[in-house]
Amino acid sequence: MLVNTKKLLQCQGVPYEQKERQNHQSKGFAYIETYGCQMNFADTEVVAAILAQEGYGFTQNPQEADVIFINTCSIRENAEQKIWNRLKVFRQIKQKRPHVLVGVLGCMAERLKKQLLEEEQCVDMVVGPDAYRSIPKLIEQVHFGEKAVNVLLSREETYADIAPLRLHSNGVTAFLSIMRGCNNMCTFCVVPFTRGRERSRDPDTIVREAQQLFEQGYRDITLLGQNVDSYNYKGVRFAQLLAMVAEIHPKLRVRFTTSHPKDMTDDVLYTMARYENLCKYIHLPVQSGSNRILALMRRGYTREWYLQRIERIRSILPDCAIATDIIAGFCSETEEDHQQTLDLMERVRFNSAFMFYYSERPGTYAARKLKDDVPLEVKKRRLQEIIRLQQQHSLYRNREWIGKTVEVLIEGDSKRSKEDFSGRTSQNMVVVFPKHSSYKVGDYVQVRIISATSATLKGEIVS
Ligand code: 5AD
Ligand code: SF4
Repeated sequence: MLVNTKKLLQCQGVPYEQKERQNHQSKGFAYIETYGCQMNFADTEVVAAILAQEGYGFTQNPQEADVIFINTCSIRENAEQKIWNRLKVFRQIKQKRPHVLVGVLGCMAERLKKQLLEEEQCVDMVVGPDAYRSIPKLIEQVHFGEKAVNVLLSREETYADIAPLRLHSNGVTAFLSIMRGCNNMCTFCVVPFTRGRERSRDPDTIVREAQQLFEQGYRDITLLGQNVDSYNYKGVRFAQLLAMVAEIHPKLRVRFTTSHPKDMTDDVLYTMARYENLCKYIHLPVQSGSNRILALMRRGYTREWYLQRIERIRSILPDCAIATDIIAGFCSETEEDHQQTLDLMERVRFNSAFMFYYSERPGTYAARKLKDDVPLEVKKRRLQEIIRLQQQHSLYRNREWIGKTVEVLIEGDSKRSKEDFSGRTSQNMVVVFPKHSSYKVGDYVQVRIISATSATLKGEIVS
C-alpha cells in the first residue's frame, strides 16, 4: 500500500505550499522498518521528515520502494540477528530491482559499519543515530556509485528543529524525544557506545512541539530519554520540564520514560502529584535484586535504595503504576542472587516488567572484564521463573481495578474486535470496552472495570 505524502503532511499540519513542493519534487518511495526501543521509533519519524523534505513519498511495502531503510537495535544479540535476517530479504528485492537503495540506520550502523558494508552486499548506506541530517547527501553519493557511510557521534545533535513526520501514527499518541545518548555506562549496556554522550534538547522546542501535537489532536505524549532524570538544559531540570509540558493543556496526557533509580528525585514525584495530566506511571528499571550484581552492573544504587525509592513513589503518588526491567543471568549470578531478584519482585509487586536474559555485547565493560559464565539453560530457566512471577503480579495489580471507574483515552479499535474500543488509563493499563456511538478515537471516557487478565482490563462505558 502506498502512503500518500500529501495526505500525511495534511495530518501533520504542514503548510499547503510545502505540500505542493513535496508533490512536484517526488523522488520515489521510501520504506522504513524500525526495530528496538521507542527512541528508535521516534528517530524513524525524524528520518521520515528529512526524506519528505527531499521529496520522497512513503510506502508500507518494501517490494514497491525505491529506498529501503532499516532502523536497527543492538541492545541484545537476538535483536541484531533479526536485522541480519531482514537484510537477506532486502537483498532479494534488490536482485529483482537493482536500482533500489538499502540503508542501515541506528545502533547497529554505529556498531557494525565495516561488517555491514563489506559482508552484506546489498547495503549501500550506513548511518548512525547522530548523522540523519546527512542522509540526502549520502543518497546522492550512492547514486554516484559509491557506498556511503556516516556514523559520527555528536555532542550537540538533538534534531530539535526537525518536526517529526508521524508516519504510522494513530493521531492520538506520540513520542517526543527530549534528550539523546547516555553517560551512565552500566557494564552490560551497549547504548553509550552506539548513541554516544548524553545531551538535552532545548525545553522551548520541546514545549513548542508538544503544543503543536495537542493542536493537531494528539492527547497522549511520551517524553523520551535513556535517563530522563538527568535531563539538564542550561539548568532546566526534568521536574521543571514536566511542569512546562503539563501546563500546555489539562487534556494533554504526558508520560515519560525511562527513569533511573539513582537519579529520580522527589521533585519529579511532587510535580507528578501536582498535575493530574502527568500520567501516574513510572518505568524504573531495577535490573537485579542482588547488591553484588548491582555493583557489578555499576548501576549506582543498592536494593535498599531502590526499595526506598519505591516507598517514596507510593507515599507521594498512591495510585501510581510502577514498571521495571530485569536481566536474568548476568555475569557470575548465583542462585542466591537470583533469589534476591525474585524476593525484590515480591516486595514491590510491579505492575509490569520487561524481562531479558543477559546477552553479552562486544565492547562493553562486562564483555571486556567479566565472564559471561551463567550457562544459557540456566539464564533461560531463571528468566522463566521471573516471567512467571511477574505474570502473577500483573494479574494481582490489574485485579485491584475491578469495580472501579477509570478515565480512558480511546486510542483505536481493539485488536480482537472492531466492536470494541481500546485505550489506556493514566497508569498505562490497556482497557477494552464495547463501542458507543457518542465516542470516537481521541476522546476521554469513563469506564467501569469488570474483569482483568495479566495484560488487559475489560470494562463498560459509564454514562
Ligand atoms: N542483555 C540483556 N538485556 C539488556 N538490557 C540492556 N542491555 C542488555 C544486555 N546486554 C536491557 C536492560 C535495559 C533494557 C532497555 O534492556 O534491562 O533496561
Ligand atoms: Fe544502558 Fe544504563 Fe544508559 Fe540505560 S542507563 S541506556 S541501561 S547505560
